[in-house]
Amino acid sequence: MNSEEVDWRVVLDRLAQRRSCRDFDGSPIDQETLAAIVRDGTEAPSSCNQQNWHFIIITDRDRLTEACEISGGNHHFAECSALIYLTFQKGWTHGNFSIVQSVAGACYHMMLSAHLRGFQCIWNAGIGNHGSLRRMLDLPEIFELQGALAIGRAKPSAPPMKAPRRPFAEVHSWERFKRPSRSVYPVKPARRYPFFRIRNDDNPFAQWNPGSWSCEALGDFRGLSVWAKSPLAGVYVSRRQGAATEVELGLLPHFEPGAAIAEVMPWGGTYTAALRRHLGPYIDIHLAELSQHNLSFIDERMRQEGLEPVRHEGLIKNGVLPLADVSMDAVILPQVLEHCPAPERMLDEAVRVLKPGGALVISARNLLSRYGWRWARIERRAQIPNQGPFHPIPAFRLRKWLAARFQIEREVGIGRQAVEDAEMLTGNRRFFGRLFAARCIRP
Ligand SMILES: Cc1cc2nc3c(=O)[nH]c(=O)nc-3n(C[C@H](O)[C@H](O)[C@H](O)COP(=O)(O)O)c2cc1C
Repeated sequence: MNSEEVDWRVVLDRLAQRRSCRDFDGSPIDQETLAAIVRDGTEAPSSCNQQNWHFIIITDRDRLTEACEISGGNHHFAECSALIYLTFQKGWTHGNFSIVQSVAGACYHMMLSAHLRGFQCIWNAGIGNHGSLRRMLDLPEIFELQGALAIGRAKPSAPPMKAPRRPFAEVHSWERFKRPSRSVYPVKPARRYPFFRIRNDDNPFAQWNPGSWSCEALGDFRGLSVWAKSPLAGVYVSRRQGAATEVELGLLPHFEPGAAIAEVMPWGGTYTAALRRHLGPYIDIHLAELSQHNLSFIDERMRQEGLEPVRHEGLIKNGVLPLADVSMDAVILPQVLEHCPAPERMLDEAVRVLKPGGALVISARNLLSRYGWRWARIERRAQIPNQGPFHPIPAFRLRKWLAARFQIEREVGIGRQAVEDAEMLTGNRRFFGRLFAARCIRP
C-alpha cells in the first residue's frame, strides 16, 4: 500500500486510543513479532543520528518474575509477554538530555507499533534497583538504564479507561508562554529554578503548605496524578495507610441500613474500598472530592474490587462540600485534614452537613510524633507526593479545633513508630502517635 492509500485520520484515531495496560494475561508473543516491534522503534529519530540505544528483550518467565521482584512488585512485569529494557551508551549527546530524548522517541514508537498490531503496553521508569538489574542483564557500566516497556495482551477484565488529558488549551500557546494559573503549581518563590538543584528526594522549591495552593490547583494535581496507576483492585495500599486504616475504621459507630456517610477527598479509592468492606452494601457512601477525575477513577476501582458503587453529586468548590445541610449520619476525614488549604473551614463544613448526633471520624498525621520529626527532617525536603501537599498537624491543635465544634467521644494515637506500626495509644501517649484520631459527635 503506498502512502496515498493510507487514511491518516484512521491511523491517528487508532493511535489516540492507545492507553497503558497493567493487567496482562501472560500469553506469549512470538519472537519474530517482538523483534519487528523493536525494529519499528529504531525508525525513531536520534540525536546526531547516533542511535546509541540498546534494547534488551526479556521473555523468559523466571526472568520476568525476577524483574517484577526487583521492581518492588510491578506485577505487570511478571504477567506481560515481554519486557524491553531501554538502555543507552553514555558519553555522547548528553546536552539537553538528547540521548534520553532519543531513547524515549524509540520507546514510544515501539508502543505505537505494538498498539497497531493489537497488543497493549506500559512504559515504566519505576524498574527498581539499577545494580540488581545490571547484574540480571549483564549490562556494562558504560550503559545507562532508563526504563522498561512491558508488552502483552490485556486480560478481558483490565480497566477499560484511559487516563484523562489536560484540556488542550492549557498545554499550548502561540508565540509566547501562556498558561492558566491552576495548571502552574505553586512553588517556593525564587529568582531561578536550576534543574539540577531539584531531585525527587530533595526539592528546595517544593511548596508543601496546602494553604499556598488553591482548591482548584490541588484538585488539578491530585486528579491527574492518581492515574499514574490504573484503577486496579488493590493498588495504593501504602505502608502508612495499611494497618492504621483498621484502627480508624474501628472508630466508626454502628449504623443502621440506609445511613449516609460522607468520605472527604478520597483520592485513589483505597480507603473507599476499605470503608465499603467495613460498612457493607446497605450504607450510602457519598464522596466529596476536589476532582471529577478521581471520582471516575474510584467508580472503576470499586467495579474492579467487585464492591457496591458509591455516590457523588458534585465537587468541593472553594472549600464547600457538595452535600446538603444536616444530611449526613457521619463524615469521615482519614488523613485528609492536613491536605486541606483551610483545615478549620473543613471542620466547619463537617458540622454543617452532619445531622445532630452525627459522628465525625477523623485522623491526621501528627507533627508531635516520630513521624512528624521524620516528615520535617526528611519527607518535606522531597518533591510533593501524588496525593498532594500536606502539613502534619500537632495533635494538641487538632484536639482544640475539634473541642470547639464537637463533643469528643473517643480519641487515640495511632502508631508509635514513624512508619508502618498501628499500635493504638491511649492516655497522654495519644498525643504523640503518628496519627491523632478521634470520634466526635455533632451537638
Ligand atoms: C517516562 C514514563 C515513565 C513511566 N513510568 C511508569 C511507572 O514506573 N509505573 C507505571 O505504572 N506507569 C508508568 N508510566 C505510565 C504513565 O503513568 C501513563 O502513561 C500515564 O498515566 C498516562 O496514561 P496512558 O498511558 O494510559 O495514556 C510511565 C510513563 C512514561 C511516559
